[in-house]
Amino acid sequence: MYAAAAAAASLRARAAVASMRISSSSSSSSASSSSAASSAAFVRARHARCGGGAWRAPGARLTRRLARPWSSAASSRVGRGRLHRASAGKAVDADGAPHVSVMLEEILECFADVETRTHVDGTLGAGGHAAAMITRHGEMEQFIGFDVDRSAHALAQPRLEQAREKAAAANARATGTLKLSLVEANFRQMREALKALKVDGVDSILLDLGVSSMHLDRAERGFSFMNDGPLDMRMGESAKTTAEEIVNTWPEEEIGRILRDYGEEKHWRLLAKRICEARVEKDIKTTRELVEAIGNVPGKWGSIHPATRTFQGIRIAVNDELGAVEDVIPAAIEALRPGGRLAIISFHSLEDSIVKKQFRKFAGFAEPLSEEVNRYMPQPEKPPKIVRLITRKPLVPSAKEIDENVRSRSAKLRVCEKL
Ligand SMILES: C[S@@+](CC[C@H](N)C(=O)[O-])C[C@H]1O[C@@H](n2cnc3c(N)ncnc32)[C@H](O)[C@@H]1O
Repeated sequence: MYAAAAAAASLRARAAVASMRISSSSSSSSASSSSAASSAAFVRARHARCGGGAWRAPGARLTRRLARPWSSAASSRVGRGRLHRASAGKAVDADGAPHVSVMLEEILECFADVETRTHVDGTLGAGGHAAAMITRHGEMEQFIGFDVDRSAHALAQPRLEQAREKAAAANARATGTLKLSLVEANFRQMREALKALKVDGVDSILLDLGVSSMHLDRAERGFSFMNDGPLDMRMGESAKTTAEEIVNTWPEEEIGRILRDYGEEKHWRLLAKRICEARVEKDIKTTRELVEAIGNVPGKWGSIHPATRTFQGIRIAVNDELGAVEDVIPAAIEALRPGGRLAIISFHSLEDSIVKKQFRKFAGFAEPLSEEVNRYMPQPEKPPKIVRLITRKPLVPSAKEIDENVRSRSAKLRVCEKL
């Protein structure tokens, strides 16, 4: 029976790998001193240049900086010349890429003390964070980038190649050989993909969750209630369903459930009913038709469009976004080498609470007391401590960043480090 289960698991793993598209490329430059010793020396030298002098334990610098009021410290450093407004609500970054990377300085800072020989970016997008990490970490030997969206790979790849050249040119002591491996797959397949790439340890992992500006601004992707387009909302072709299928075929209770649980929509019953009434007349096929079916939503909406929560709920269901985050965190922590770090930027409270809960669990905290387990009952055992929390409270963007890029306003960054 065990043999059958093991065979089935190995078949599943092989099927998962077969469904991924992995492409790798390497390049070497004249600076080819690629030993681990030289990259360690490079990192130590970088520390000395930063005025650090003595070699500090990883994390010491960031933790100390985090003791400062973050928003004022960050606002002086973040974003100078980083983005140009293209039009209201849209922006391009300094390279002209159609997505402005959120909390870029904070991300670079949280990995600054880590000797990053192997870096994983689980959410490549336009490659902004990834290119900055490659440029900053001349010691990097392998970069692995995931995205479910093929068009993100097309955008990111040339930026990564450019960053690789820049890093090699700027860092005489850099290894000069950086292998770029791009994986067109869901990051929840991280364990299988790293195994297929024969990666035996990772130093830094970034997940910048959710959709990109390319998704929101391209009407044909069907994510936006501001532009009319087909009701699609799939981040990548591998998603099992579309928004059109959900709104036209799912039972009213199921639609209500995703509006309530994923959209955090107070009026979920009313809106699910309206959607199901509208679809009796004719199928709801476009984003505008969905906005019309939802109609006026009770309450004060301020700067938020009344369809925001409905669209969020449907999008999360189409892409099983919360399930993917649940799955990837244990795999990412398992992949880290001691001292390696995992940083996750989330954009709504549902994602953030999964990240917070899982980080606390891996940091050895017991589950908070609940109705089922109160303080008069035998307490559950504490889980083993595998990571330490670098951020006890999530970091948020500076006021300046939010002002320059309104899409950053709900971002929360949490970081942990493998022991
Ligand atoms: C916010 S964007 C990332 C932007 C990127 N950090 C940058 O600086 O350009 C998120 C990207 O992650 C991808 N994505 C979201 N969830 C994913 C998942 N579960 N697996 C793989 N890619 C995912 C999306 O397709 C999107 O391109």
